[in-house]
Amino acid sequence: MAVRLEKEFPSFLPSDDTHPYRTGAWRPQTREWTATDMEVEGELPSDLNGVYLRNTENPLIPALQRYHPFDGDGMIHAISFREGHAEYRNRFVRTEGLGVELEAGSAQWSGLAESPLKAAREDGWGARGRMKDASSTDVVVHNGVALTSFYQCGDLYRLDPVTLDDLGRTSWNGKFPAEGVSAHTKVDERTGEMLFFNYGTTWPYMHYGVVDATGELVHYTPVPLPGPRLPHDMCFTENYAILNDCPLFWDQDLISRGIYATGFHPEMPLRFGVIPRRGGENDVKWFECDATYVLHWINAWEDGDEIVIDGYFQQDPSPTLPTDATVEQRLFRFLDLHTLKSIPYRWRLNMRNGTVKEGPITDTITEFGMINASVAGTAHRYVYQVVPAHGWFGFEGLTKHDVVTGTEETYRLPGGTYCSETVFAPRPGATTEDDGYLVTFTMDVPNDESHCEIFDAQNMIDGPVARIKLPERICSGTHATWADASQLTARG
Ligand SMILES: [Fe+2]
Repeated sequence: MAVRLEKEFPSFLPSDDTHPYRTGAWRPQTREWTATDMEVEGELPSDLNGVYLRNTENPLIPALQRYHPFDGDGMIHAISFREGHAEYRNRFVRTEGLGVELEAGSAQWSGLAESPLKAAREDGWGARGRMKDASSTDVVVHNGVALTSFYQCGDLYRLDPVTLDDLGRTSWNGKFPAEGVSAHTKVDERTGEMLFFNYGTTWPYMHYGVVDATGELVHYTPVPLPGPRLPHDMCFTENYAILNDCPLFWDQDLISRGIYATGFHPEMPLRFGVIPRRGGENDVKWFECDATYVLHWINAWEDGDEIVIDGYFQQDPSPTLPTDATVEQRLFRFLDLHTLKSIPYRWRLNMRNGTVKEGPITDTITEFGMINASVAGTAHRYVYQVVPAHGWFGFEGLTKHDVVTGTEETYRLPGGTYCSETVFAPRPGATTEDDGYLVTFTMDVPNDESHCEIFDAQNMIDGPVARIKLPERICSGTHATWADASQLTARG
C-alpha cells in the first residue's frame, strides 16, 4: 500500500468536540494524502476510466459562535481510475479565506447561523456578505479543470482534477462577475458549455451566464426578481436554461437591519424562469407553480411544447418544531430531508399556452439525485438518489428509480456507514442508459474507516463489485461529480 502523507494542517477545534457536524461521520480531517496503491476487495473494473470528485465541508477553525455545517472549509476528495488501477488524493481548496483564518488562528467571518455584523472583518464573500467563501459546496469538471464553488456565491477555484494541484481562481479574462457564481454550475456534455447563475440582495437579484467549451465567458445577463431570493440550483434543456424563484427567502425589511432570517410564503408561487440558453432578461418566460422550496433539480428536457422538469418538492419547507426544541434542532432543521418531506416531483411547463401540470413522481423521501450526465438536458430514464438518515444530514444508502416503469430498488449500507452523493460512470460503448458504474465514498464510523465503493449500476442491489480502502476515514460532505477520462484532456 503506497500511501504518502503530503501535509498536516493545524486544527483549532476543541479536542473534546461534541458538535453533531464535527463528529461521527462529519469528523473533519487535518491531513492530505496521496495513495497510489490501495487495498481492494473484489475486482476493480478495467473499463472504469476517469475521476470521481467530491467536495466536503471540513472545518479547521471554530465558528465565531455557532458552527453550521455549510461553513466548513472546502476539501476535495478525488479517486482516479485507469485500466484497473486507482489513485486517491484529498486536498483542501486553497481559498483566500482559509489562508487568512489559518494565519489569524480564529474565525474572521460570520457563518450561516451568525449575524454578518459579528464578523471581525468588513470584507468577505457571499450573497449575504461578510462570509468566508469556503468553496465547499459543489465541484464540476469543465474544460479539463475541476471547479469548486460555494452555495452563497463566490469564486470558482480551479484544481487539476486528478492531482488536485491548485490552479488558482477563475478570472474569465477579467470578466468574472463581481456578484460571484453560485454552486451548481451546470456542464452540458453535449455542447461543452457551462451554465451558471448568481444571486444577491440588491437589484436585479440574479444573473445568468454561459461559459463556452474553451472556458470563455460568452454570455452574462441580469434576470431581475421581485426581491432577494435564495435559489440553490438550476437546470437546463437543449435550448433553455431554467432558473427559479422559490417563496422561501430572506425578509427584505430585516436585511436592512443586518438580520438574515428566512421565511416561507405558502401564499406565493414557486416561479420558473425559462430563458433561451443565450437569451436576455426580456426573453425569460415565467411560470407559476405550487409553493415549495426546491433544493435540487434532477434534470429537465423538452417534450413537444412542454418543458419537463424533475426535482425534489419539499412538502414542508419550513417545518415548525416543538416549543422545547433545542437551539441545534432549530438550526439544523433544514438538513433533515424527512422533516422537509422531500419527494421526487415533476413539473410540465407548456411554452405555447403558459399552463403548468405538476405532481409527485413517488412518495419516497429522498434527494441528491444523479443521472447519467451524458443525457442531461434530454429525457432520462434512471435516477440514483440517497436514502436519507432520520433527524440529521447523512445518507444511509441508495435508491435507483426507473421513471419509465416506476420501479425502485434500494441498497442500504450497514448500520453506521454512510455514503456520499453517488455518481454514474458510463461504461465505454454502453448501449443502455444504466450500463455503467455507481461510484461513492463511504464513511464507516463503527470501524473508523472509509472506502470508495463501486457498484454495477444494473445490479446495484447486489452490493459493491469493488471496495477500495482509503488512507483514513474521511469526512461526510455534499456534492460530487464524475469526469470521464475523455473529459480530462482539455486544459483551459
Ligand atoms: Fe446543492
